[in-house]
Amino acid sequence: MSQDHPASPRHLVSIDDVSIEEMHALFAHADRFAGNPRTFADTCPGFISASLFYEPSTRTRLSFESAMLRLGGGVLTAAEMTSSSVVKGESLADTIRVVGGGYADVIVLRHPSEGAARLASHFSPVPVINAGDGSLEHPTQTLCDLYNLHVERGRIEGLDVVLAGDLKYSRTVHSFAFALARFGANIVCVPQPGFELPEYVVKRLHEEFGVEPIRADARRLGNLASNSDAVYLTPQKPHQLSLFTDARGWEVQQVDAVYMTRPQTERHSSKEMSETQYLRLEKRAMAAESLRDAVVMHPLPRRDEISDEVDADPRSIYFKQAARGVPIRMAILSWLLGRIDLDVPLPKAAEPSLAVPSGPNPCPNPSCISRTETRHAGPRFHVISETPLRAACAYCTREISFGLVGCSSTGVYHAPGAAAVGQIHFHHLVLLEDEAAAVRLGFRPSAAPDPSARA
Ligand code: NCD
Repeated sequence: MSQDHPASPRHLVSIDDVSIEEMHALFAHADRFAGNPRTFADTCPGFISASLFYEPSTRTRLSFESAMLRLGGGVLTAAEMTSSSVVKGESLADTIRVVGGGYADVIVLRHPSEGAARLASHFSPVPVINAGDGSLEHPTQTLCDLYNLHVERGRIEGLDVVLAGDLKYSRTVHSFAFALARFGANIVCVPQPGFELPEYVVKRLHEEFGVEPIRADARRLGNLASNSDAVYLTPQKPHQLSLFTDARGWEVQQVDAVYMTRPQTERHSSKEMSETQYLRLEKRAMAAESLRDAVVMHPLPRRDEISDEVDADPRSIYFKQAARGVPIRMAILSWLLGRIDLDVPLPKAAEPSLAVPSGPNPCPNPSCISRTETRHAGPRFHVISETPLRAACAYCTREISFGLVGCSSTGVYHAPGAAAVGQIHFHHLVLLEDEAAAVRLGFRPSAAPDPSARA
């Protein structure tokens, strides 16, 4: 056992917040908790978790609450946030300050806006766990999914995993894809047409993990992929790839897991509503040679995308997958509450973020929390590359656009690609929309003389 409560809490907002070593340690603890879950009530006695759910949930909320109760703690539930002070106009930041300021020792938050959990973590004195923020991420579902692969397959590295369905809006898919790439697993995308993996996810997979999208011949996936253009995403290097790809692309031979997702209709715009039949995994599809040894996973809830007759197939593990949500969340809660040690080195601290001074919000994402939570949390950014300067929204991670870069120390502004930008200290960076904004904020062009300088 380690300290009662960490001075500066560790949050779980993105799957990036957990290192591979920490994930393996969490899996080992989850194995221990799964063995006899009724014998761990001395792990978190007197601790309270608060479930703040601004969107519906069955599995995530109940498995977290079951986990906390099994650890000997208590739970507070606001499962229907429309019955809370939100209807009186309370901001998320204030709600978090109140709940984290004595009511609970850990906050489990689900919210429709992307980056909501990141924002909450800036205001919370206790750990914040992201239980789903819009279509951005769902890191604890991913830890559950990875834990399932670890149990069923014995490894994650090098596996071939099919991600099928609504890849555009499924937050479980986005967090899972980032984690699979980090583990060195390969992804076969079989999207519902029109609901492909978003560009920002593919770009990040490429920039951070060297993942290259390759056209995939998925005929061997049978009727699951008959309606869809499959794409193979692999973090393998080109020389390794040439061993099993040819000019036509990558041919699906055998896959290790199929991860099916439902249409995320609550996030679809009316013009996106597809008339096309949604993908369906049926008994017939399970006969495909490439699926012979594949486990079938689904974060649930399912609609019609996996037919009921597939439930009896021994390869279907989605109900076991949901059950394993309890031991993995017991591991997550006891870790973040400082009640177990993972005994692995701490990962590098995340880069700090800076506020955007004024003017229009440069985050291009209409679903970003920085659009609605304007009173307490204006837009913030962090740097993703120095030359040329590129920045991302500190909440929803989308790349943001700006016309000029100012230095708050010299009062000078530059074009984002100018060599001088590389010399500006991080804390002096000011992102400016255009020249008018620069002048309004008192900046001058780099060639102009400094009016405060003595003649
Ligand atoms: C998922 C979610 O909420 O994103 N559900 C879950 O947490 N198990 C998947 C979904 O709703 O489709």
